[in-house]
Order: sequence, then structure tokens, then C-alpha cells
Amino acid sequence: MDATNLVNTERRMLSVMQGSEGQIWTLKDVLDACNWSDQAVAVGAGQGLADKGYVVVDEDVSTEIRLASQGNSAIEEGLLESRLWNWIKNSDDPSMANLQKSFEKHEAGPGVGLLKKLGIKLDLGLFVCGDKSNVEHIISQRESFLSSLPKPVESLDPELLNHFRNRRNFIEMVESTSRTWKITKVGMKLSDSDLVEKEMINEITPELLQSDTWKGAEFRAFDVTLESSTPRTGRSHPMQALIERIRHIFLEMGFSELVEDYVQTAGWNMDALFIPQDHPAREMQDTFYLDNPKSMNLSDDLMETWSSIHKTGGDTGSVGWGGDFSKDTSQKGLLRTHTTVNTIQYLANNPEAACRMFTVDRVFRKEAIDRTHLPEFHQIEGIIMEEGANLQMLVTTLKTFYRKMGYPEVRVRPAYFPYTEPSLEIEVKWRGKWLELGGAGIFRPEVTEPLGIKHPVLAWGMGLERLAMLVLGLDDIRQLYISDLEWLRNQPII
Ligand code: PHE
Repeated sequence: MDATNLVNTERRMLSVMQGSEGQIWTLKDVLDACNWSDQAVAVGAGQGLADKGYVVVDEDVSTEIRLASQGNSAIEEGLLESRLWNWIKNSDDPSMANLQKSFEKHEAGPGVGLLKKLGIKLDLGLFVCGDKSNVEHIISQRESFLSSLPKPVESLDPELLNHFRNRRNFIEMVESTSRTWKITKVGMKLSDSDLVEKEMINEITPELLQSDTWKGAEFRAFDVTLESSTPRTGRSHPMQALIERIRHIFLEMGFSELVEDYVQTAGWNMDALFIPQDHPAREMQDTFYLDNPKSMNLSDDLMETWSSIHKTGGDTGSVGWGGDFSKDTSQKGLLRTHTTVNTIQYLANNPEAACRMFTVDRVFRKEAIDRTHLPEFHQIEGIIMEEGANLQMLVTTLKTFYRKMGYPEVRVRPAYFPYTEPSLEIEVKWRGKWLELGGAGIFRPEVTEPLGIKHPVLAWGMGLERLAMLVLGLDDIRQLYISDLEWLRNQPII
């Protein structure tokens, strides 16, 4: 054995260990005794000493099972089968048809499968159960399994473990290696006088290569199989990174960015867009109206114009919506419900010059928070105004955008918005399914003519968080804003 090969860290670790023969050293012991903070240094030094026979290493690889996103929501909201079972027990009408009404689609579908496996059958459209106590037993076993996590894999019931492994995103396995070190007899005997000081080269630099010193020198070998800590540097939140990428794509396609306030009037948010004043989306339960400013002044001319368009269609050839038009309603302050409020104002201020504008910004709707909804989210909005702009151009632009985002399969379907004609729904294909990402269309004359807009306007508005769910492979929109550091660190660079 070549004692001269001890590097400083090895030497230090050895002399510390010589101080107590027979001790089993954990990583923490070594770090404390040597006054080191980097585990990789201790592991490296320990490995070096072990290679030379001065210590023995004992490695213990263990696997821990932890809750993943679905597992966490099951703890918060109850397992799907448990919620379904309670519903069956308490419902006056435990039928398939009623189940589909009482649960969302994404739960009702898999839920029926889960119930079947629990021995709950459909008989003439009604759920019936032979062995109730067995169902309750299985459910409570599953629930206590989940609430016992995290736990080492070997301490868990293999059947339940297998069950949750087959359910997407319920649990995850995390492997970790723990090491202990013990000094050997040879190690105990090694003294400083056995050591010869010798320079070893750690790093090859241009200076080193230019000089002659490398010729007789010894190089320190690297063991590339050793574990080391992952360097953690600051990085953008995946949402921010996604927004940057979207900006780049639109800039590349010749668009300019529009950044505007989210405090707006109902007039611009809705009246200008020919959304009737009695439209259900205007209700308090869908829109956040403000107490301060409760109302914001709009010019009388503007409101007169909207009023005549809404009541009779004005000079646009439309018949309007009929009914009354309230200027107070127009002047109500609100948090914008869509970014179309800003593109329409841009057009009102610049009605003649052809333009391509986009925004990626926050909007607000009174939504209950669930797997696919947030009350505050982002829209990717865009307009193209130019002579001869047409539907074909709109579809091609949207397809180009999604292709650049990495989604080559895009389709559009007819839809309805009060302010566009024709109106489209945009869908992209993801994991074999079509997902709806937003709306688009060509602004109606009721919108463009009163503002003096000269050319056809192609417009679209799409959900950013929905797109983020695709890009990051999420099945719960809330994950984006939980700020779970572990999750954030492991996200791909977008
Ligand atoms: N504003 C619509 C929404 O919020 C989207 C849209 C924008 C539709 C522009 C057509 C034209 O869903």
C-alpha cells in the first residue's frame, strides 16, 4: 500500500478516526469532527481511505416511499373511492346517471372502475354492494396506508404498495444511500511519519501544460462513480420561463408586446366587445367588481356609441341586442376578466395602422379553485389587424405559434363569442387527446366600426396555465403556484 497517496482530506479524516478506535462513524460524525460542510468531501475522503485499506465503508441503500401530488390531494380531500362510497351510502338515488351529475367527468370515469374493483356492481343502473364491511375495510386500509407516509419501502404492506404504484402520481420512491465508516487496524497504525508530503495535481490548467512541472507530477484520480451533491443555482420559476419563451416566439413572428393595467371598466372589458349588459358572465359570481375604484369615468360620446350599438346596432347594419343600456354599468371598476380588454383599447387608440400585438398577462375570474381552475391566471392574447386579414391567416398563425411551442397538431372548431364572427376554439393534441386551449375569431363590425377600425382584426386569447400543464406534464393546475422547492428544483429548463 502506498501511504504517500493520502490527500489532505483523507489525512484529516484518518487522524480524526484514529482518535477513537472501534467507533462507527456516520456522515454527520465525520462532518462534525472534521469541520466540513460538504458531504461530497467526506464521502470522497472516506472512499479514498477505503480504497487504500485504512477504513471500511458500509453502504446502506434504502428506499423511502413518499406521497406524490395525487396522494397529497387524497389526504386533503379524501380518496376518490371513499368519497364515492360515502356518496352511494347517503344518496337517495345512487345511480350511474346521478353519479355523473354529482362528480366531475375526470372523477366519475375512473371512479366507476374503482368501485367495480371493490365489488360494487351496477344493477339496472343502480350501484349495489354485497359486502359493505369489506368495502369499508379496504378503503380505510388504503387511507391509513397513505397517511402513514413517508416510510421505508420494506416496512409497507406489499399489496397496498403495489396498488398505489399502479395509480398515477399517488406515491413516489426516493432512494438514498447512507454510509458509515470504521477504521481498520492498518489505519490505526498509520502515523504521520509514514506519510511523505507530495504534491498531487487536481486540476489541469493551461499554465500547467505550458510549464514542465506536470512531467514528473502525480495526478489525482477522480472517481466519477461517486455521488456528489447537485449544484443548486438560482433559476426562473417555470411559469416565468414559459412566459419568456412565449414572448420570444411572438417577437420572432413580428408581434409587439402590449403591457397594460388589470384594473379596468366594465365598458372596455365588455361593452366595447358587444357583450350584452345582461350576459351571465358579468354577474358578481363570475367577475370581480371593485369597491375602489367603484366607478371610473368614461367619455359620454363613447358610451353613447356603445349604447346605440347595443340597443339598435347603430350604423353597423346589426340589429343590436335590444333592451336598455346603462352608463353606470359601463363605468363600474373591475379586475379584467380577459386581456381582450387591452387589445380593443389599443385598436381604439390606433384604429388605422396595421399591427400585430400580443400580451401575456394576468386575468381574474371568480372561479372556485380546483384541479383545472384558478381565480387568477394568465392569458396569451394576440391580434393582427391588416388589410385582407382572413380566417386562413388566423388559423395559420395559431398553428405556427403552437408548432414553435412544440405542439405540431392543432385543430380549430366552431365556437361562439359575442365579439367575433366567425369564432373558433383552438385545440392541441397531447398524449393522444385533444385539449381545448383557447378561443379566437375575427372581430365583429359591432366592435370595430364604432371605434373607427379600418381593417379586419384577427384575435385570440388562450390560457397560459393550461399550456403550462401540458409543457410540465401536470394534472393539477395548483401545483404551479404551490412553490414547493423540491418540485421547482426538479422542473425541466423550459
Ligand atoms: N376573450 C376570450 C376568452 O377569454 C378569448 C378570445 C379572445 C376569443 C379573442 C376570441 C377572440 O376566453
